[in-house]
Amino acid sequence: MSVEANFRKVTTKSLQLLKKQDIRISALTAYDFITAKILDEAGIDIILVGDSLSNVFQGNETTLPVTMDEMIYHTKAVAKGAKRAMIIVDMPFMSYQGNSDEAFTNAGRIMKETPAGAVKMEGGIRIAPKVERITEAGIPVMGHIGLTPQSIHQFGSYKARGKDKDEAKQIIADAEALEKAGAFAVVLEKIPKNLAKEITGILSIPTIGIGAGMHCDGQILVTNDMLGLTTDFSPRFVRRYAELSEVIKNSVENYVSDIRAGNFPTDEESY
Ligand code: KIV
Repeated sequence: MSVEANFRKVTTKSLQLLKKQDIRISALTAYDFITAKILDEAGIDIILVGDSLSNVFQGNETTLPVTMDEMIYHTKAVAKGAKRAMIIVDMPFMSYQGNSDEAFTNAGRIMKETPAGAVKMEGGIRIAPKVERITEAGIPVMGHIGLTPQSIHQFGSYKARGKDKDEAKQIIADAEALEKAGAFAVVLEKIPKNLAKEITGILSIPTIGIGAGMHCDGQILVTNDMLGLTTDFSPRFVRRYAELSEVIKNSVENYVSDIRAGNFPTDEESY
């Protein structure tokens, strides 16, 4: 790790500095203490308590069912494992889409009830007034545009966004609106790499890509996907760094067969 990136605690200011120095930002998701501790010890900059916990932790089809109470519960566990990484928490579906008072109260709840450093909200121009109100209260907001999974029923599919000119223009306008509203960073999900490059060049705040190519200021993946714990989801943008599902399955098969064969526990493993 470079000296410039050697922060004791990553903050919005550190991320800004990393963009300025052209040092790429690393981000992954976590929903529990032990995963957060491992990611933190490995030097990750951002731990996102993503609403993807609805899919990968709770087994739901979409991110929509997860609640504020559940996000807060998981964030408290994650926070105990993260010493250096900045913790960012997804505001769940319908915790900010309604009126601005509700968005404000819910962002405040996350910051009051957990040690998180920021909240993340999906949407651009249409949520900009809420982002402004929340950031004015001293709560850092990360935006999330492109493919926004909380709008899956409106999109109709998880295919890449911004491939046609009009949608690309809309996504650029969304990115600009978020920066103007005070967001400190923005996630770009599943958009063409050249569009992500253009946005990264326009914005002075960092862009964090997922399926948005190599020109973003940083990258994020869902930890369960990159570790090969999720096996039925392998889009092109996920690089698998391990096959943990196989490792766990083999270990459990060996455990079961040791028990059946009377090989566990041995004398050395007994009192
Ligand atoms: O919920 C999540 O994990 C996310 C990332 C994929 C960006 O929003």
